[in-house]
Amino acid sequence: MRTVFWEDNKVKMIDQRLLPGTFVLAEFDTVEGIARSIREMYVRGAPAIGATAAFGMALAALRSQATDREGLLADLRAAKATLDAARPTAVNLSWATARLLTLAEQTQADVDALRQALLAEAQAVADEDVEINRRMGFHGAELIPDGANVLHHCNTGALAAVDFGTALGVIYACQEQGKRIHVWVDETRPRLQGARLTAWELMRAEVPMHLIADNAAGHLMRTGQVDVVIFGADRVAANGDVANKIGTYKLSVVAKENGIPVYAVVPTSTIDLNLPDGDHIPIEERGPEEVTHIGETVIAPENVPVYNPAFDVTPHRYITGIVTEEGVCYPPFTQSLRKAKEAAEAR
Ligand code: MRU
Repeated sequence: MRTVFWEDNKVKMIDQRLLPGTFVLAEFDTVEGIARSIREMYVRGAPAIGATAAFGMALAALRSQATDREGLLADLRAAKATLDAARPTAVNLSWATARLLTLAEQTQADVDALRQALLAEAQAVADEDVEINRRMGFHGAELIPDGANVLHHCNTGALAAVDFGTALGVIYACQEQGKRIHVWVDETRPRLQGARLTAWELMRAEVPMHLIADNAAGHLMRTGQVDVVIFGADRVAANGDVANKIGTYKLSVVAKENGIPVYAVVPTSTIDLNLPDGDHIPIEERGPEEVTHIGETVIAPENVPVYNPAFDVTPHRYITGIVTEEGVCYPPFTQSLRKAKEAAEAR
């Protein structure tokens, strides 16, 4: 099953807040509902929220009361603003809404034809995501030696995308090729995407793995138990600085100190050439309850002051390579990322 899909004029998605204990589908039929599903993380992971936002734009067109093209365009622009505001760091969100709005603006057709065109384009975003992940998996698997111990952060699998995944897609590709690999799964505090989602995915796929506390990663690297560090990203700046789940920076610095290669696996839609470096990437700050609670259990004193940044930026000097659907980009990233983006746009 895909993580997010369109059915019966609704957007349906796996409610990732409840995994691994409960597997249920949530459904939304308004733009506000879709924005809430992204903000409250029913759906999360950069490519998955991009596809969800694309379906949100199709929903906006379907629900619009406009009787002419200009009225529909106005409703789509409002929907884009609502959806883009849901989460700030992953550029895939505004990339997807811009793709649908641009299509509408460039298509001279009546309102009904535009509605059809937008739904078809949202479906294309979702279908392409799966195909792109497969291609990244193929390119990334070339970098992983047989028998490797791979350290992974957050969740970048089928749940973080429409299907298959980015960095975990590379792991799945290795498994399909018969490579014997083992994955160290960072629990990924505070929301535990590693413990709850990546461990769940890898166990279902029968990939050998161990769940580790985030704080164990440095010890494993220093004692020679990690061959490769691999993760996804929410936004990559033009110079190759990578914004990803909080904790990624610390991992990358320790990996470099220990001579371990570090790869980010990203679709070209995650590369933001408009931003010169990572200092320009907006970092989402989330609520204190993510830190003071685990599930329903309180683990900190009442009213404790909390700071909870959801992402960090890893400067490009700590990144060995960035795997895209167009191949692996190496330093100087300013050139290689631009080439990858151009190749993707020329397809
Ligand atoms: O806060 P999340 O769970 O949406 O964060 C997800 C990540 O940081 C992933 O590593 C990133 O989106 C890449 S996933 C394909």
